[in-house]
Amino acid sequence: MARLSSRADLLDRLTNLSALDPDDMIGPAIAFPEQCQQAWESGCGFRLASRTTPKVLAVTGMGGSGVGGLLLAKLYDGRCSVPIVANRDYTVPASVGRDALLFAVSYSGDTEETLAATKQALDAGARVICLTTGGKLAKLAARYPRRTQVLTVPAGFSPRAALGHLFFPMLALTAQLGLLGRGGIAAVEREVTETLRLLRRMSQELHLDVPVARNEAKQLAHFLHGCFPIVYGGTGLMGVAAYRWRTQLNENSNTIASHHEFSELDHNEIQGWRGGNPGLPRPALIVLRSKGESKRMAERIKITLDILGRRLHRREVEARGASPLAQVLSAVYVGDFASIYLAYLNRVDPTEIDNIRQLKKALG
Ligand code: F6R
Repeated sequence: MARLSSRADLLDRLTNLSALDPDDMIGPAIAFPEQCQQAWESGCGFRLASRTTPKVLAVTGMGGSGVGGLLLAKLYDGRCSVPIVANRDYTVPASVGRDALLFAVSYSGDTEETLAATKQALDAGARVICLTTGGKLAKLAARYPRRTQVLTVPAGFSPRAALGHLFFPMLALTAQLGLLGRGGIAAVEREVTETLRLLRRMSQELHLDVPVARNEAKQLAHFLHGCFPIVYGGTGLMGVAAYRWRTQLNENSNTIASHHEFSELDHNEIQGWRGGNPGLPRPALIVLRSKGESKRMAERIKITLDILGRRLHRREVEARGASPLAQVLSAVYVGDFASIYLAYLNRVDPTEIDNIRQLKKALG
């Protein structure tokens, strides 16, 4: 108990923030709503060189630069007049050819998988819009001036902290092309406005000045501390949020974590709980719930959790807002904050990603 209260003290009295978070990962988290607003405006103001309707819309990007593509595909695939392909590989599918528009997303512009996939798409005749701060991706685009455009995103962020800059311009451009309904930008503007308003409110509620007793993200960090985090999404959309939670726990909190989504997990992972998993740290299960769940899905989740047992260390996080965009970004936002607070409890620098840097350096 003494340990718990001293940890609670740590999150409530962050006097030594410069030691816990020397590169200020919490700053961009707090300012995320403004980042999203700025990114949306930048996408709305970007002049497309061609308004030809593509037959396929694809996004390629890795890690923090890949999440925006997953979000776009899951959010709008059912509503977009053309298929949306989210790609995270050295290659692109055969459908990304002459009639395709590819968003090539790499914050640094130097990620080799994204460069290779983009080059392949360009050679196959695709149109490409790069979202990047520059790097080799901008140079690659300059070699194909008739079919490429570069939307330069602001520098100075960790890629994973620039999610707004890497997602909202794609949404605005997809809407500008009329792929999300004839209304263009107006077709999604209401969802964006609702989302930004909600994120602004959440930024205040989850802020580091708000004590544990009233701060859901700090409570979640305590809940996860010392455990093996497992994050389940209650729908496909929440599955993308669960993936983002996992990767933020990996990169910010420096912990191994896992994620899965309903209903697929009921066909495999549900059995994995059976053996008690000797040798693994105590699991801490977070289930991301949303209004988008059907009655049947809610029933399925209840039965699953009953089978897993009442004594399981678990918590539910309820997505907020009315639109799917608000719902998914609210679930993502709580996880982003929680992963930074968990880094403080783990006493690791949430910005430092030395293993990733080492790997990239070794690959040259
Ligand atoms: C780092 C991060 C990583 C990078 C990934 C790809 O903050 O989130 O997952 O996003 O290594 O690098 P970029 O984004 O530069 O293409």
